[in-house]
Amino acid sequence: MCKLRFTTFSDVERAEVACGRMTEPAGPPPDPLTLPGPWNLVAAGYDEEFFGQVPGFVDEAIATLALSPGQSVLDVATGPGTAAVRLARHAGRVVAIDFAESMLERLRGHLTREGITNVELRAMDGQALEFGEASFDAAVSMFGIFLFADRSRALRELHRVVRPGGRVVSTSWATFDKNTALGSGIEALRAALPDLPRPAGPLPTQNPDLCASEFIVAGFRDVSARIVEFPVQCASAAAYWRSFERAGAPIVLLKKKLGDAFPAAAERIQAELRARLGDAPFELTASSIFVSGVR
Ligand SMILES: C[S@@+](CC[C@H](N)C(=O)[O-])C[C@H]1O[C@@H](n2cnc3c(N)ncnc32)[C@H](O)[C@@H]1O
Repeated sequence: MCKLRFTTFSDVERAEVACGRMTEPAGPPPDPLTLPGPWNLVAAGYDEEFFGQVPGFVDEAIATLALSPGQSVLDVATGPGTAAVRLARHAGRVVAIDFAESMLERLRGHLTREGITNVELRAMDGQALEFGEASFDAAVSMFGIFLFADRSRALRELHRVVRPGGRVVSTSWATFDKNTALGSGIEALRAALPDLPRPAGPLPTQNPDLCASEFIVAGFRDVSARIVEFPVQCASAAAYWRSFERAGAPIVLLKKKLGDAFPAAAERIQAELRARLGDAPFELTASSIFVSGVR
């Protein structure tokens, strides 16, 4: 693992100015990834491809939370329980929430197979947590809140449900040039389908300073943002595509949009991947922004 940067903030005014730059334009149609539909459709593929792929990210989050025995933790946007299942060994009680029922079903499978009894599941929108003030000792959201329509509301909710002194960790993906594990597929897709709409530049959630600013504005103190990276081994470009296609909610949406034209588009994407990555085994980097703060 390699930690490339560490930023500490204390100036709330500066943070609020920074957050002003993150305001979405008024009235855009809702991003389909902010709805449960695509996540329900990819739940099985996501679980099979990604649940065990980079456990180091969860280990890093658990280390950052610095839990004491018996403490309670909320896992927001748990998916198939990527964090919750591993957190169960370190906490007295884990509550895992997600708005996609099929993801929770996958988590139920892990809990049954592993005989874990201290994880509770709840179907819930992470932007409107159905818990009282100070209900948890700590909270985590791995690659969850960065997808939400209203991140600031979700962070304010986390601040509300964690007790004073409790720590919160949220992760998002770094820019695609660093995060080649995701970026390789996105770049190939954009090259194969140049007419697809694309963001003008990096997203706010790909900027560690802006991520930290959002935590500060939500009320957290001792906020830090750092980049955490792990290598990801791939057997071939074909294997990479298979994983990308099975687990990627955006690919589900692309299939729906292209209909009968999807198989030809998929061929073009795979040709781009082969040209960029070759067919021999190769290594990519999964690069994540880790933000933590204390209520
Ligand atoms: C990329 S997956 C991450 C899953 C898991 N935390 C992990 O690290 O593997 C994103 C998850 O966020 C969930 N999600 C997205 N928006 C949500 C919302 N508003 N409320 C609750 N869950 C949400 C999706 O259903 C999906 O399971």
